[in-house]
Amino acid sequence: MFESKAGILWIGGIGFFALAFLSNALVPVLMYRDLPEQTAEEVVNARVMYQFEDLSRRYPEAFQAAFGEPTEEKCAEALRLGRQVYIGEGCWHCHSQFVRPVSNESRRFGDVAKTEEFQNELQRPVMFGTRRVGPDLSREGGRRGNDWHVVHFFEPKSVSDGSPMPNYPWLFDGDPEKPNRRGIALITYVQWLGSWLPSYPYYEEIEADRE
Ligand code: HEC
Repeated sequence: MFESKAGILWIGGIGFFALAFLSNALVPVLMYRDLPEQTAEEVVNARVMYQFEDLSRRYPEAFQAAFGEPTEEKCAEALRLGRQVYIGEGCWHCHSQFVRPVSNESRRFGDVAKTEEFQNELQRPVMFGTRRVGPDLSREGGRRGNDWHVVHFFEPKSVSDGSPMPNYPWLFDGDPEKPNRRGIALITYVQWLGSWLPSYPYYEEIEADRE
């Protein structure tokens, strides 16, 4: 069998396919089938609340009109909506949300992705993405301030020379000082990405601050 072409094709084609299916699909399913899927409310944490409150202080009027008070329930609502905006605007055409364990990706983007990170409502379906025109965003949270994101979504080129990322003026009511409900939700979502990891910038300071 090993000397015939058919034998090699069988092992190479079907054999390795079966092995990959077993190790990449069946094993994780069996390992994590008892892990409960978390809701958006359950994935709200101190880091994303810190950002959500920061947005309410920086853009008081816009925030008040969009979400009222920065409570945890409102934050979960913003995360759900932010994710919908992310999908609707096609951000995933240009950004991945998966750090692979190859090519030293972790040196550029942060911790390599782990299975259990994806066991929650906001990862249904996952936003792995298909291309990387821009950087991976799965550890984007806390890397930039909210004011930077506001200006960047209004006009990427104004903070990032020659950026091919489109302007998103419809996430604002006129000027960049007035992000609307969808704009605030999208920024909250982006600031949430990676907030479950201790590598989130100022993780301990934020934790201490909120006690
Ligand atoms: C046409 C491709 C394209 C699309 C569509 C796009 N981006 Fe980008 N994005 C980029 C590129 C390229 C960069 C790097 C240059 C820059 O900072 O603008 C970038 C940068 C970013 C950054 C800054 C990353 C960092 O910390 O340096 C964030 C956050 C971001 N994009 C979020 C989004 C979101 C959210 C959407 C959807 C509303 C989106 N992008 C749509 C290409 C794109």
